Amino acid sequence: MVASSAPGKVYLFGEHAVVYGEPAVPCAIDKRATVEVTERSDDSLRVEARDLSLDGFTVEFAGGVAGVSDIEVESELVEAAIGYVDEAIQHAMRLGDAPDAGFDVSIASDIPLGAGLGSSAAVVVATIDAATRELGVEVSPDEIAEHAFAVEYSVQEGQASRADTFCSATGGSVRVEGDDCTPIASPELPIVIGYDGGSGNTGELVAGVRELKEGYEFADGAIGLIGDIVREGETLLGQEEVSLESLGQLMDFNHGLLSALGVSGRSLDVMVWAARNAGAAGAKLTGAGGGGCIVALDASAETEQALRITPECESVFRAELDHEGVRAE
Ligand code: PMV
Repeated sequence: MVASSAPGKVYLFGEHAVVYGEPAVPCAIDKRATVEVTERSDDSLRVEARDLSLDGFTVEFAGGVAGVSDIEVESELVEAAIGYVDEAIQHAMRLGDAPDAGFDVSIASDIPLGAGLGSSAAVVVATIDAATRELGVEVSPDEIAEHAFAVEYSVQEGQASRADTFCSATGGSVRVEGDDCTPIASPELPIVIGYDGGSGNTGELVAGVRELKEGYEFADGAIGLIGDIVREGETLLGQEEVSLESLGQLMDFNHGLLSALGVSGRSLDVMVWAARNAGAAGAKLTGAGGGGCIVALDASAETEQALRITPECESVFRAELDHEGVRAE
């Protein structure tokens, strides 16, 4: 048996616009998915998952998504998670030149599913790493990122950028623009995350933005403006003394533009305003939107306290930048 883990991420700036070639800056956070893989004596695949922000589920299937049992989240999400694992295992089998291999896969994760923190990317990255190591092959984080992106691209039917998977494989803060992914230096930031307990459908949200972009010049303009915010944000992050106030202001602006593009939601907006009113330097949704998480910057305890008493916020936690990407456990 081997085990690997990989981090989730928050977007400081740039989600959605990154799909159209604008840059984005995601940062890996110290919330991980851990995947254990054991080769089986037959060619089937058995997946067990715990803590995917649900009570636990077990499925058995060979080469496809099968019925799930004992689950507490929308089965759509669980099926999606299994789809990612299945595809990740296919890639590992090709990398390990083991077309007839079978595996027991066990997943534990402290990243809520489908909530904008890159849960699927972390699971895919950790699965490819663990399964290839179980087959006796060493694959570099860059190569894992490449394969993990191919998995997301296929499962999400083309609605995926390289941001989540690259960030999860390499850790730290990264800059993603089209096929170009580069680690960037960034300071420790006082990250607070609010989670509404829900999730958004990335494919549908990306499709909604695409429709607006194709139908209205202002939407295309908003996407370009998000790119400008990211470029400004990168400059700030590269400075010796990083101004939280200025970073926060850019995050606020970024959230406004995401709202204009229709990807925020009531609970996300309420949490964003709770954070801002509590004195956060800035706050925005992270990831695809619709529901899920917001990210705020606040070194004091005020934002956490405010979110804790906000009915729309189911849980609130701090996160730190995780400099480590995928790793053996
Ligand atoms: O919510 P997540 O973690 O799946 O992030 C989606 C980010 C998008 O920019 C909307 C899509 C993508 O693949 O970059």
